[in-house]
Amino acid sequence: MKLIVGSLLLAASVSAIPAKPVMLGTSGLRANLKTRQAKVIPVVVGGPQDTFNPNSVTAAVGDIVQFQFSNGNHTATQSTLEAPCTPLNGGVNSGHIPFKDGQTDVGTFSMVVSSTDPMFMFCATGPHCQEGQVMMINPTGPQQVLDFVKAAQSTQKSVDGTAIAGGTTSQITLANAAFVPAPPKDPAAGGGAPPAVPPAAPPAADPAAPPAAEGNATAAANSTAATKGKSKRSPILLAY
Ligand SMILES: *[C@@H]1O[C@H](CO)[C@@H](O)[C@H](O)[C@H]1NC(C)=O
Ligand SMILES: *[C@@H]1O[C@H](CO)[C@@H](O)[C@H](O)[C@H]1NC(C)=O
Ligand SMILES: *[C@@H]1O[C@H](CO)[C@@H](O)[C@H](O)[C@H]1NC(C)=O
Repeated sequence: MKLIVGSLLLAASVSAIPAKPVMLGTSGLRANLKTRQAKVIPVVVGGPQDTFNPNSVTAAVGDIVQFQFSNGNHTATQSTLEAPCTPLNGGVNSGHIPFKDGQTDVGTFSMVVSSTDPMFMFCATGPHCQEGQVMMINPTGPQQVLDFVKAAQSTQKSVDGTAIAGGTTSQITLANAAFVPAPPKDPAAGGGAPPAVPPAAPPAADPAAPPAAEGNATAAANSTAATKGKSKRSPILLAY
C-alpha cells in the first residue's frame, strides 16, 4: 500500500512540471521510493542582478532542477571548475531565455539530475560569468562554490553554448514563479497594464534578492550590511 501511494505521489510531482519523466528501472524506482521522493528545485536566473538564486543546491538523482528566468537574457550552461565560463562538451545548456518588463509568463529550463557529482553551471550571456553569475549543484562544500565563483571572475570572456541540451524548456505563470521581477525600468515603455504581480508566492524558494538600490550607494551599502547581519540561511531544505 505504501508503495502505491508513493508511486502516485511521485507521478504527481513529476507531472506537475512539463519535464521529461524520470526514467528509473523498477529496482531503482523502488529504492528511490523507499528513501525519498523526487523534488523540483527552483533556481532563479537573473532579475534585479545577474545572479543565480540560490547559487548552490543539493539534489538527489531523479530530482529536477527548474531554472526560472527573471529579468534579462540569461542561460544555464554547464561548465567545469577549470574552465568556468566555457561550455562543457556534451554538457547541459538551456540556451538564452529572456524576461522582459510586463511579461506574465516565465521561461523555464528543467533538468533531471542524473548524478550527485558536483555540477558547474554559468550564464553564457555577455560578461555575466565574469560578474560571478555561476551556480553549483551538489558542491563538495561551500568552499567549492566560492572557488568556482572566483575562477569565473578570473576569466576574460565567456564562450556561448550552442544547441539546447540536457533539459526541457517550458513556461510557468509569473504568479507561480519563485521571484518577483525587477520594477520596470521605464514605466512609459510598456504602455499597457503593469505586470501582474504575484501577491504572495509560496516561500518554496527564497526569492530574497535584495531590491536594486540604484543611485544611492550609501543606502545600498547600509542595506547590504544589514542583510548580512541577519545572515539568511540558504533555502535548500534537505527534507525527506
Ligand atoms: C539574448 O542573447 C542572445 C545572445 O547574445 C541573443 O542572440 C538573443 O537575441 C538575445 N535575446 C533577446 C530577446 O534579447
Ligand atoms: C539615500 O538613502 C538615504 C537613506 O535611505 C536617504 O537618507 C538619502 O536621502 C538618500 N539619498 C538620495 C540621493 O536619494
Ligand atoms: C549608514 O550606516 C551608518 C552606520 O551605521 C550611519 O552612520 C549612516 O547614517 C547610514 N547612512 C544611511 C544613508 O542610512
